Amino acid sequence: MNFSRDFVFGTATSSYQIEGAHNEGGRTPSIWDTFCATPGKVYEQHNGDNACDHYHRFEEDIQTLKKLGVDAYRFSIAWPRIFPEKGRYNPEGMAFYKNLAKRLREEGIKPAVTLYHWDLPMWAHEEGGWISRESVEWFKDYARTCFTELDSLVDSWITHNEPWCAGFLGYHQGVHAPGHTNMEEAVKAVHHMLLSHGEAVSMLKTEFSSSTPIGITLNLSPIYAKSDSANDQLAANNADGYSNRWFLDPVFKGTYPADMMNLFSKYVHSYDFIKEGDMETISVPCDFFGINYYSRAIVEFSAAQDFMSKGAFSDYEKTGMGWDIAPDEFKDLIIRLRNEYTDLPIYITENGAAYDDEVVNGKVHDVLRTRYIEQHIQAVSDLNDLGMNIQGYYLWSLLDNFEWSFGYDKRFGMIYVDFDTQERIWKDSAYRYAEIIKQREASL
Ligand code: NOJ
Repeated sequence: MNFSRDFVFGTATSSYQIEGAHNEGGRTPSIWDTFCATPGKVYEQHNGDNACDHYHRFEEDIQTLKKLGVDAYRFSIAWPRIFPEKGRYNPEGMAFYKNLAKRLREEGIKPAVTLYHWDLPMWAHEEGGWISRESVEWFKDYARTCFTELDSLVDSWITHNEPWCAGFLGYHQGVHAPGHTNMEEAVKAVHHMLLSHGEAVSMLKTEFSSSTPIGITLNLSPIYAKSDSANDQLAANNADGYSNRWFLDPVFKGTYPADMMNLFSKYVHSYDFIKEGDMETISVPCDFFGINYYSRAIVEFSAAQDFMSKGAFSDYEKTGMGWDIAPDEFKDLIIRLRNEYTDLPIYITENGAAYDDEVVNGKVHDVLRTRYIEQHIQAVSDLNDLGMNIQGYYLWSLLDNFEWSFGYDKRFGMIYVDFDTQERIWKDSAYRYAEIIKQREASL
């Protein structure tokens, strides 16, 4: 591994997954509080009421970040802490993030802040949520308030985290909040999220004349066809359209992919929600591109499925999520992005793995996670040797946390959390990550 001193090593979390304190500081419920309270949606009906209690333990967690030696910490802001009701700003909610950012900087850690990591306020949902074009205005108000109060305290902004999940898992597949299963709604919701991304980027640059770097984070997964057959190739192309191109094309090319617009038109009765000027807004130039990478997918033709595509058997070794471990395919993905989409600096804003960790004599020997992390950091190093200009890597996650519909059943942290006592225990992977960060410093 070979990293320059200015390469950013960090770790990432999100508000609903770690904060807890769900009814403190003036916070009102988000769509995830409601979703968790709906029987059958989340593993054993877990919820984020307490999560890692980070809201009260952030000082301890900052000390952990310091010991790890990370350069940057990526966290998200809970919108319902900032606007608990429509049009009502809550300074108490903002104070938490101001203090967090300030304390991180005092400890020499750069705050990288995500505006939307899925916790839409319930009031916004009740007024139509992301399906309504008004959501763009609500998001702009929220972003403006965050920029006003925090821009001088943060090192980078991320507008949206994984709009594929928020849009398609939330409104099409129904496995994330708000749990709808309507493709037309999902396509609209995604459009409004992307639009709100573009609006926020323009706002920061024009209204605030800010030079703080701003970008979007997409979850991307390289898709492979099971065979060379024309049918399997079609399946792969469609799956790539649904998972990747539906986001990459608008953000970097200012268009939605025509083949996917055709396929979606089975469900989307009219595209008149795409207004004149929207695509220019969405494709406004950003300062960097954030990528969350976890796995690849392999698909085969299936006439019965949406988009004629279904997951195919893969003999790759899997993580605790059942996801293929695929560091070589990560390289394919980045090379493709460079060839087809963008020269912007890339940040890997998330990468990591869940495993069934066990505490034995106060230690967690997470050999498999450690190997996963090493393989992917090695891939980043190899990619940079090829000139791919990846400027940072954020490990998901600092702490075991609320893994959405899997509740606390899936552990992604490099720090183990005992959710009964809130004790934090360093896993072997955390020691290894600290060593990797340190080695970079020693090598120069
Ligand atoms: C991506 C999401 O941004 C994050 O919230 C989630 O926990 C990880 N993937 C792991 O699934």
